[in-house]
Amino acid sequence: MKLTIKDIARLAGVSTATVSMVINKKDERISAETKKRVLEVIEEYNYVPNRVASSMVTKNTKSLGLVLPDIANPFFPGLARGVEDRANKDNWNIILCNSDNDADKENRYLEMLQEKMVDGIILTSAKQDLSKASVLKKISVPIVTLDRDINDVQHVGLVKTDNVKGAYDAVRHMLDRGYRKILHLSGPLSVYTAQSRYKGYLQAYADSGVKHPKEDVFQGSFSYESGYTMTNALLEKGIEFDGLFCGNDLMAFGALKALAEHDICVPEVGVVGFDDIYFSALITPPLTTVHQPVYEMGYMAADVLINYIKGENKMKGKKMEFVLNLNTELVVRNTTR
Ligand code: RIB
Repeated sequence: MKLTIKDIARLAGVSTATVSMVINKKDERISAETKKRVLEVIEEYNYVPNRVASSMVTKNTKSLGLVLPDIANPFFPGLARGVEDRANKDNWNIILCNSDNDADKENRYLEMLQEKMVDGIILTSAKQDLSKASVLKKISVPIVTLDRDINDVQHVGLVKTDNVKGAYDAVRHMLDRGYRKILHLSGPLSVYTAQSRYKGYLQAYADSGVKHPKEDVFQGSFSYESGYTMTNALLEKGIEFDGLFCGNDLMAFGALKALAEHDICVPEVGVVGFDDIYFSALITPPLTTVHQPVYEMGYMAADVLINYIKGENKMKGKKMEFVLNLNTELVVRNTTR
């Protein structure tokens, strides 16, 4: 028979409130002896708290939904790690959803999270311009967008990095090192971060006074395969370039593979990525890239959302317009002169 919190309280000779405080580690004011007795009863009867039942009373499940577009890309597990560590600090749980960059799948997950009564959602969306079919407008819990902003949705905030400046610094570095025909292998331009990086690429050229290539941007999918395929296509078409600024590290890895297969020397031809995922320092040659503080991004997004839900931001119930814009850092390694 499944025991309830009332049974545990009776068996331990305490109130249900005392049992709840021990379970939720809010037991500073409970004597060590009482706490020990409650924990012994929980252990003896293998009691597992019923989160759904308690949520009916407290109206919260102490859980957050986290929707990410591609958990196979090492960038996103880094975000999830930061979110999870912050949530676990307050004994909150995470429900991780992988949308596979598919807006329909993203919608299905958002509906599921609403049904599961999560207290808030952290969303890195598959694309910026959400279709009218987006379910976000029906979501009643607070939403923080992480890394990628989305348009016209009431969300309590956005945690991201300054993608424009990160791209600007990367391309200025390449121009300063004498590269002139730098092509941009971008992520999907329907995605906020890819758009921002293209802006930074253009600004760097504009401020340098160097004319940028007529055909300057080639749209990929933030994947290794797209970096590899696009670089091969450029070489086969004879499109001239002496530098590739890639939308993320995975695309840069693909570009390096294609250049190597054509016996093209790096850093004779410069290659720069974006993210600074774990492998970027380990490959040969190590990749010049733009570091994103991915763990801090995830941690801050969860911190803001949990504090908002707990009402500690004194903004409970109001539309909190805030943007946490974390800095990127150019990491120069061996794929540029
Ligand atoms: O690597 C995936 C890219 O998409 C990252 O650069 C991240 O910023 C996300 O937007």
